Amino acid sequence: MFLIIREEMDDKVLFVDDEKAILTSVRRLFLDKQINVQIANNSEEALSIIRNNNISVIVSDNIMPGVRGVDLLERVSRISPDTIRIMMTGYADLSTTIDAINKCGVYKFIVKPWANNELVSIIEEAITRYRVIQSLKETDEPTMRSLAQTIELKDRYTKGHCDRVASYSLIIADHLNLQDDTKKQIKYGCWLHDCGKIGVSEEILNKPGPLTDGEYEIIKKHPEWGAEVAKQANLSQEIVNIILYHHERYDGKGYPLGIKGDEIPQEARIVAIADVFDAITSDRSYQKKREFSEAKNIIASMKRTAFDPHLVDIFLRSVNNTRIEQICLTLKQEGLVEYHDTTVESQGSFWYNNQKF
Ligand SMILES: [Fe+2]
Repeated sequence: MFLIIREEMDDKVLFVDDEKAILTSVRRLFLDKQINVQIANNSEEALSIIRNNNISVIVSDNIMPGVRGVDLLERVSRISPDTIRIMMTGYADLSTTIDAINKCGVYKFIVKPWANNELVSIIEEAITRYRVIQSLKETDEPTMRSLAQTIELKDRYTKGHCDRVASYSLIIADHLNLQDDTKKQIKYGCWLHDCGKIGVSEEILNKPGPLTDGEYEIIKKHPEWGAEVAKQANLSQEIVNIILYHHERYDGKGYPLGIKGDEIPQEARIVAIADVFDAITSDRSYQKKREFSEAKNIIASMKRTAFDPHLVDIFLRSVNNTRIEQICLTLKQEGLVEYHDTTVESQGSFWYNNQKF
């Protein structure tokens, strides 16, 4: 779950609490982790550390002598906006904490007394979020592509998925005569479309067979999680749209917002087709890949329900086995993906988004 995006980063996590015993126990808790724990006994001390260091994550108590935690985090949001802000508080102080979430963009709150494993995983998630934002801010092609490949490592079945989705999407974009810059943004959006999966456990991503309702609810959070990170990294609107809306459906039955038809930005409608086409023609943990001709029939059967019918027509007209084999071969020659041939044995229903088609 704890992904290394930029190994050279020295992640500093700052804990702020007026109770020394609490600071001692968090320090002990992170002793064997590769995390640089900093501590402060009050808000003034914390602000001085924040001004002089790159702090990835700050975890603050609320009720402290002097400046309260909620006001400290609000100041941190201005001084060091990328620092992920977490509030740790007693149960009695919960309503103030909820205020804090609205007032200063607190990422999560932790109620004392905490469970050690829960605290560690929240901090690791927060560091991952910080690293993804820092990586995305570089916005150069190699960084974005390597981030996409890092995400693919979480799911052993999706090697090369982002590159193939980009190639399929650009087939449609070419036919629509979209501008070069728009096509570039679509390519980046395809690479990053599942970046929110960094927040989903590998057990769920690699689970064979359908997910439970609870697991599916977790999966459904990845578009919003990823889009928030992309927005924070100031990526283009097209990229954010692809990340946020690539699981929306044309009939409004998708997620996360359930918007439909042309309310879904065109770039996301394009990528939705490419994403599903690649899912059908690749082995996944929950089903075997299908032949290309069968995949095309499945895509055609999802016209108007899942996908924009006009874009489906363009895709089905333009895509053929030779074109797909060329895409896979080029990616293989670049050493990026394993080539998968077109001989497939499986038949029957097709599962996507935990639904049968
Ligand atoms: Fe996705």
